[in-house]
Amino acid sequence: MIKAKDVLTLDELDKKELTQTIDLAIKLKKELNKGITKPLLKNKTLAMIFQKPSTRTRISFETGMFQLGGHAINMSAQDLQLSRGESIEDTAKTLSRYVDVVMARVYDHSTIQSLAENASIPVVNGLSNSYHPCQILADLMTIKEKKGRLDGLKLAWIGDGNNVCNSMMIGCSKVGISMSIATPKEFTPDSSLVKQCKKLVDIDLTQDPSKAAKDADVLVTDTFVSIHDKPSRLRKFLPKYQVNSKLMARANKSCIFMHCLPAKRDQEVTSDVIDGPQSVIWDEAENRLHSQKALLVSLRI
Ligand code: CP
Ligand code: NVA
Repeated sequence: MIKAKDVLTLDELDKKELTQTIDLAIKLKKELNKGITKPLLKNKTLAMIFQKPSTRTRISFETGMFQLGGHAINMSAQDLQLSRGESIEDTAKTLSRYVDVVMARVYDHSTIQSLAENASIPVVNGLSNSYHPCQILADLMTIKEKKGRLDGLKLAWIGDGNNVCNSMMIGCSKVGISMSIATPKEFTPDSSLVKQCKKLVDIDLTQDPSKAAKDADVLVTDTFVSIHDKPSRLRKFLPKYQVNSKLMARANKSCIFMHCLPAKRDQEVTSDVIDGPQSVIWDEAENRLHSQKALLVSLRI
C-alpha cells in the first residue's frame, strides 16, 4: 500500500512503494493475459476531470476501473460548474461526497494541488504542466519488463525538459537509473528538482544529444510542443534534438526507444526509429493500463 493520500508528482512514493507498484502492475498484466481479473475495486468510482485532451490516460483509467470491478466517470472541465466559476476547493469537497478517487488532467500544477488539499479522497495527477507521474509508472514498468532490472541502467532524455522529464527524474532517481538529459539551454528541466534527484543518482545536463545518447540503455523523447506550449518553440529544437537512427547508434545495441505519445513523427523522432525494432512504444502505451490499475489498488480508496 502507498502511505500518501495523493499522487501528484511521483515523489509521494518511496522506493519500496514504487517498486512494489511496478511489480504488482507486471503481475496484473500477466493475470489479465491469462483471462484472470479480480474485483479489487468493486463498487468503487473514479471521477476523471480533463482540462486538456487525452487518448491514453482517459481510456486506460476507464478500462482499468472496469476491469477491477469499479466504475469511472469522465468529465471535461467544461461539463462541470467549474466552467461557470465554481471553485476547485468546492468541487473537491463535492466530489469527495460521491466518489472514491479523482484523477485530473490540468494546466497549472497548483490546480491539482488545490484539488488534493481540499478532497478527503485520493487525487491522482493525470498530467499537469509540470508533472506526469502516471506516465513514468508505466515507463518504469516497461523498462523493468524489457531489461529485467532498473537499478544501474542509463537513460538518455532528448529534447524538452518538460512535465514528463520532471516525473522521469523523480522516478529514475528513486530506482537507481542514471540520466543524461540533452535539451536546449532555455528548456532544461526544473533546476531545484534536478538538485533534489542528483542526491540519489547521477544526472548530467547537456546541450549535446550525442553525448547524452552515448551508451544509453533507454532513450526517451517527447513532443517539442506540449499541449500548453506555443508552437513557435519548435524551431529551437530542430534539427539538433531530433531522435534519428544516427543518434540511436550512439546508444547501446540493446537500447530501447520510448515515447509517451502522442508523437509528431519526423519532428522529435524519425519514423524509422519510432516504428523500428528498438521502439517499445506500444508496450509502453499498453502499460498505462496495468500500472494505473496497480496504482489504484495500492491507494487507500
Ligand atoms: N501519454 C499520454 O498521457 O497520452 P494522452 O495525452 O493521450 O493521455
Ligand atoms: N509533454 C506532453 C505530454 C503529453 C502526454 C504534454 O504535456 O502535452
